[in-house]
Amino acid sequence: MIKNISVIGTGYLGATHAACMAELGFDVVGVDVDPEKIERLSRGELPFHEPGLPELIRRHVDSGRLRFTTDLDAVGSWADIHFIAVGTPQQSGGTGADMTFVDTAAAGLARAITKDALIVGKSTVPVGTARRLRDLVAEESREGVRVALAWNPEFLREGFAVQDTLRPDRLVVGTDSPEDEATLREVYADALSRETPWVATDFETAELVKVAANAFLATKISFINAFSEVTETVGGDIRTLADAIGHDARIGRKFLNAGVGFGGGCLPKDIRALQTRVSELGLDHTMNFLNEMDQINLRRRDRVVTLAEQILGDLSGRRIAVLGVSFKPLSDDVRDSPGLDVANRLFNSGAEVFVHDPEGNANAAKRFPRLGYVDSLSEAAQDADLVVLTTEWDEFKALTPADLDGVVAAKNFLDARHVLDAAQWEGAGWTFAQLGRHF
Ligand code: UGA
Repeated sequence: MIKNISVIGTGYLGATHAACMAELGFDVVGVDVDPEKIERLSRGELPFHEPGLPELIRRHVDSGRLRFTTDLDAVGSWADIHFIAVGTPQQSGGTGADMTFVDTAAAGLARAITKDALIVGKSTVPVGTARRLRDLVAEESREGVRVALAWNPEFLREGFAVQDTLRPDRLVVGTDSPEDEATLREVYADALSRETPWVATDFETAELVKVAANAFLATKISFINAFSEVTETVGGDIRTLADAIGHDARIGRKFLNAGVGFGGGCLPKDIRALQTRVSELGLDHTMNFLNEMDQINLRRRDRVVTLAEQILGDLSGRRIAVLGVSFKPLSDDVRDSPGLDVANRLFNSGAEVFVHDPEGNANAAKRFPRLGYVDSLSEAAQDADLVVLTTEWDEFKALTPADLDGVVAAKNFLDARHVLDAAQWEGAGWTFAQLGRHF
């Protein structure tokens, strides 16, 4: 019977997975190389914003089912299952995935494990990694100890991490033995009892499912954004277009929200890593369309700057409010954030930029300290020549012209997420531009 679980890496994925495994009744230890992070997590403090997760961590730190350590050797003799949940960032100076953390974790675990155990990879990796790590682990593990390897990709979304982990849409496990699959069935018995689809497959399929899902989502977003370029030129309503094609159940309405595009720590780097990996495999042209998706996505940011210039002319010395620098609502993550990129570009064009994000200001300030960061929407908009909405937080979606009356210096608004009602703003005398709409 499985009792003890370790989770290597306590970032977004690892901290969530560790807390959720404790919630399911296992004894869990989260392992990380960063002592400060471990100390904070042990006090139930989270170094990032994720609704519901701090409470869950505190509950299980208090219940004694969840602990954190830097000591990999200690979990090697204790856990029955070791999840690897470390990052695979984009290589610096390249487009492939940096595998250093995954490789180090797998090799370190193999050397530390002293009883039969299963290592389960959760990180997003280039296809071929699991098979390579299985061999590496077999080489590095101790004589007489069976250390098996499985791949179990994670599909959680930031902002919904706990719910996505405890109530996943599907579970995908890649193994090379029925015994390892059975072990994972035991771990996920709770989800299986609710008839969560269980996809048991080989290593390569499991690895590819993850990148295929993210590539598909990125493609959906860039697909609708490409149509935005058309409606911006000829007229037409992008939201109605998305609604209309989305009614076809084969297409579906989700991820067809036109706007300033995708960002974050996953979609952008995953499509680049996938393209790089298939090129390495000699399939040079197979995933070329992903490069196009990336370009469409980045062009959305150019479009925002162009529209700002169309409204204000030269941006030098003009005051611009940027609403939203986290890559999406309910997150303080500013990695590859479209809003933050736009804010920085406006600044580089000479504008005075004042940023407000309900959660993302602190992280954004670390990256671009020269922008102005303020604590409220009205402070950002004070005396602004232009207000740009870049992340669709609820408080921004609820904005009405009356909220900004007497606050701004000039009634200019640029809705880069296409979430406000153009007629309402224009009716109140605003110059109102919107991505996806002719201006
Ligand atoms: C994404 C996937 O949705 C998760 O399933 C996956 O597990 C995760 O990456 C990962 O690989 O770890 P996440 O990065 O949290 O999750 O964010 P999403 O909710 O997918 O949003 C990504 C970006 O697309 C955001 O910038 C969002 O604003 C943008 N987006 C989303 C649009 O521009 N339009 C849409 O219609 C939907």
